[in-house]
Amino acid sequence: MSEENRTRDGALKANIHVHSQLAKTGEYNKSPHFRPENQDKVRKIILRLLGDRKKGAETKAIDFGCGTGFIIHMIRDLFTEVHGVDITTDMMKQVDLSSGNVFLHESLAEKTKFADNTFDFATAYSFMDHLFNYRDFLKEAHRVLKPGGIFYSDLNPNRDFILAMGVANARKELSISPLVQREIQGALHNGQYYKENFGIDAKTLEDAEPGKSFEKGFSAEEVLSTAKSLGFSKCHVEFEWYLGQAKIMHEHSVKESEAVETYLNMVLPASAHLFKYLRFAFVK
Ligand SMILES: C[S@@+](CC[C@H](N)C(=O)[O-])C[C@H]1O[C@@H](n2cnc3c(N)ncnc32)[C@H](O)[C@@H]1O
Repeated sequence: MSEENRTRDGALKANIHVHSQLAKTGEYNKSPHFRPENQDKVRKIILRLLGDRKKGAETKAIDFGCGTGFIIHMIRDLFTEVHGVDITTDMMKQVDLSSGNVFLHESLAEKTKFADNTFDFATAYSFMDHLFNYRDFLKEAHRVLKPGGIFYSDLNPNRDFILAMGVANARKELSISPLVQREIQGALHNGQYYKENFGIDAKTLEDAEPGKSFEKGFSAEEVLSTAKSLGFSKCHVEFEWYLGQAKIMHEHSVKESEAVETYLNMVLPASAHLFKYLRFAFVK
């Protein structure tokens, strides 16, 4: 990896390039997180986090790194106003503004124009790994949230998982199942996948995901302690999408996949390296 591209500017340029390409070719909205079962899951998580708050009279939400509107479309019926922030215009062009309460801002998530204490709810879905420095972003999210406001971030690559795939990849004496091979590919050689499938330069893709390619994902403990140091209270992490979950869901049953998930959650943190992503919820 070259050091000169490990700059904030390098990450921003790579993000705009990669996401413009994916948006213009229509590939972005085919990402796995757009599948209906995941959309149902995310909506339920949001309702759980909001609890009774969703019934408030004047409520404002902000979605950082809103892209084509994955979260915006899911929450626009829950808030008086929903604001989306992103740096890639071609992604934002695909956000549906027809509800009349969605407002888009071409801006850095780390430095927005909003006043302190503006929002009741802040979201960052499939976003933090695209940042050069996630602490700067969390600081801004904390600033614009009202006291008591909720921050929700999801689909953050789990460092324990990426490191475990590195260990699996090095075990040359053992045969590696196709399932694990695919995960090794995704965790360690994602750039190559994008090159082969979307013609996006592997290095540019890596530069667009510094939190994944260079930092090797997020440490749950480190993010929690960063959030606390910024003034968030009630900082909570959940582990999600265990290795093989989609296969069990589709080839066996949802019930069986839930049983495995319950078991793996029961034996945390010993099983932490088997989960691909981290979900965070903080209260200001
Ligand atoms: C993987 S997409 C996620 C989009 C959407 N949240 C979703 O879940 O589909 C990441 C988005 O973050 C945006 N982005 C990257 N760095 C950013 C930054 N520093 N400030 C604002 N947006 C940024 C990209 O342009 C891209 O649209």
